[in-house]
Amino acid sequence: MKKVGFVGWRGMVGSVLMGRMLEEGDFSDIEPVFFTTSNVGGQGPDVGKAAPELKDATDIDELYRMDVIVSCQGGDYTKQVFAPLRSMGWDGYWVDAASSLRMDESAIIVLDPVNDDVIREGLKDGVKNFIGGNCTVSLMLMAIGGLLREGLVEWVSAQTYQAASGAGAQNMRELITQMGCIRDAVAEPLADSRSAILDIDAKVAETMRAEGFPTDNFAHPLAGSLLPWIDVAVDDGQSKEEWKGQVETNKILGLSDSPIAIDGNCVRIGAMRCHSQALTIKLKKDIPLEEIESIIASANDWVKVVPNLREETLLDLTPTAVTGNLTIPVGRLRKMKMGGEYLSAFTVGDQLLWGAAEPLRRMLRILMQ
Ligand code: HSE
Repeated sequence: MKKVGFVGWRGMVGSVLMGRMLEEGDFSDIEPVFFTTSNVGGQGPDVGKAAPELKDATDIDELYRMDVIVSCQGGDYTKQVFAPLRSMGWDGYWVDAASSLRMDESAIIVLDPVNDDVIREGLKDGVKNFIGGNCTVSLMLMAIGGLLREGLVEWVSAQTYQAASGAGAQNMRELITQMGCIRDAVAEPLADSRSAILDIDAKVAETMRAEGFPTDNFAHPLAGSLLPWIDVAVDDGQSKEEWKGQVETNKILGLSDSPIAIDGNCVRIGAMRCHSQALTIKLKKDIPLEEIESIIASANDWVKVVPNLREETLLDLTPTAVTGNLTIPVGRLRKMKMGGEYLSAFTVGDQLLWGAAEPLRRMLRILMQ
């Protein structure tokens, strides 16, 4: 059995990965070894089979013994151990949730329901580094992979509505704390149905703008507001999150030499763990909506077309509906007023599942075949 080392299994993405692996019985096919940066010698998670005591995640000799290393520890950790490990001659598979190696030539971005062919080709060619994609990109590709596979897409403009979880566990806590703070500040007038809503609104704004409002993680109020900038700036006025849309999509699809243009605005909103995206898709030709729906729906086992009707949309196409499950609903599908080649779509996906843990879990399964 292959020795698989897990690093960062206790964090948010790592915990979701552990949960999914347990659900799918994945531990039965591997010999798991758990690493830690803080509790060497301690006990690993209960995965239904014996594992050695926790190993030091910075101990290159211990890492060297693994056939596969799965890291959810973050980019700084990857930067710290990956190069020394490879320079020692380690020849195992590196499977990583962090972005540091994503655009490296030696790496494939994994999303097997969309790029199984690219992954299998890479394995044949001896590729050893398999990295999970940016969550927004992976979720968009799970949603409209069918149209891309059919070569129907000229360009995509994605307007995102990204959840707090994409920024980290502490940010999720802060979002809830901010919500509570706002509510607490107006609890009294809120309970009185005769109070003036504009007075409540003024107090809410005052609370959100006050010095003491909890913003250690987001640096700004998110609850009751939104943040139209994610990650650092890159060139041409784009944020890094916006830049990833085009480069990662094309790398995943193996189209980097003749890339599809993808651009838009990435916005943080007060959802917990589901990213939503409004997509404007310029098709290469005007094909009937029914055909488009059937291409989208048949692309993989998780995508689900939601009829473009009010009740169905509000029931099935929201973060509330999707959170915690693997379904990728795509709805609001309609041709736009610009012409028959312009398709509008809206999609929602769990950022911790298909956006982070699930592609890694499935890559590990591929490696175990
Ligand atoms: N960068 C994403 C976000 C999450 O901030 O929502 C990770 O892919």
